[in-house]
Amino acid sequence: MDIYYLTLFPEMYKGVLGSSILKRAEDKGIVNYHMINFRDFSHNKHNKVDDYPYGGGAGMVLKPEPVFEAMDSLKLDNKRVILMCPQGQPFNQKLAEELAEEENIVFINGHYEGYDERIRSLVTDEVSIGDYVLTGGELASMAMTDAIVRLIPDVLSNEKSHQEDSFSTGLLEHPHYTRPREYRGMKVPDVLLSGNHKLIEEWRYEQSLKRTRERRPDLLED
Ligand code: ADE
Repeated sequence: MDIYYLTLFPEMYKGVLGSSILKRAEDKGIVNYHMINFRDFSHNKHNKVDDYPYGGGAGMVLKPEPVFEAMDSLKLDNKRVILMCPQGQPFNQKLAEELAEEENIVFINGHYEGYDERIRSLVTDEVSIGDYVLTGGELASMAMTDAIVRLIPDVLSNEKSHQEDSFSTGLLEHPHYTRPREYRGMKVPDVLLSGNHKLIEEWRYEQSLKRTRERRPDLLED
């Protein structure tokens, strides 16, 4: 998979894409990350990519030309183009699973009050990572990248670990325990030490259900 980030702040991505599993995925040749600074496509002698809104009002608006020309430079046919914005559809595991099958993903990350509306004609999806406003799309596209890349086959060493994730099953995950058996008076539930796999499976399912009911009853409605 090739992932392209149209951004004015490519340095923001270094720590996240250059660490841990996202880095390993690139080292293994499973994914390539590409930074495109759309300031390189500014027509302005001061390299400006934003301008005042027609009709007046607060804040600046991202101009269309740098984004259109940055997109033209990619020369990609088969692609998902994702505009990061708080008005987009809420990101979730289902969309992560769908995007994990794509060949090319382009994230458009703005840092302004808004995008010139014509930019939306380039876009296949508008996505938000939650009902709050970030200073820009970069953090949001990194969160999406993390959720998508870990689902691509061979990225995680233990394939099963994401099939059992919270949300993949429609429920939140059950509790986990490791050694020691008792810590500061808190004990590992006996069933997990029983060696009875059927009972363990049943306990885990019940715990998942209980957790989901308590914390996210909306998931059960779906
Ligand atoms: N840009 C600013 N806020 C955002 C959000 N919540 N999700 C995606 N992109 C954003």
